[in-house]
Amino acid sequence: MSTYNWAIEFQGVVIGNIAVVTQDDECFTCHLGWQIDKPYWNKGIMTEAAKAVIDYLFDQVHYDRIASGCDTRNIGSSRVMQKIGMTLEGTFRRYCYQKDGSIGDKFYYAILESNRRC
Ligand SMILES: CC(C)(COP(=O)(O)OP(=O)(O)OC[C@H]1O[C@@H](n2cnc3c(N)ncnc32)[C@H](O)[C@@H]1OP(=O)(O)O)[C@@H](O)C(=O)NCCC(=O)NCCS
Repeated sequence: MSTYNWAIEFQGVVIGNIAVVTQDDECFTCHLGWQIDKPYWNKGIMTEAAKAVIDYLFDQVHYDRIASGCDTRNIGSSRVMQKIGMTLEGTFRRYCYQKDGSIGDKFYYAILESNRRC
């Protein structure tokens, strides 16, 4: 089984990563995770990276379904999921535990190869 984890480089510096964090190659499906250093937030960098990764995973790896998820309080991450064409499939209640002890709900998004251009 292959693993996938890309560094995100900006002006010669690694500022983040995007990775396949779980996968089921028999079902042609995987789950993406991502992070970027705070000074680089809200510049469209993760949206650009995630679009490229999704194209690669559909076209080269031939996944049929790519998912991701985040705490419902994580507006930036959920916006990335929306901007790359993912659809909100559900909300898991009391699923995200934070370091401050709080518990949040989790948005669950996915995109299918068959509707990626819609
Ligand atoms: C989530 C994360 C990867 C997003 O990366 P990014 O490069 O900043 O994302 P983009 O710039 O491509 O898109 C972010 C979008 O969220 C929007 N956004 C962020 N915070 C927002 C807020 N408080 N209110 C409204 N919109 C907000 C931005 O305006 C942008 O949308 P727009 O292009 O429509 O204006 C980054 O914030 C991060 O690494 N966070 C910490 C780690 C993390 O949360 N990882 C994900 C765990 S599920």
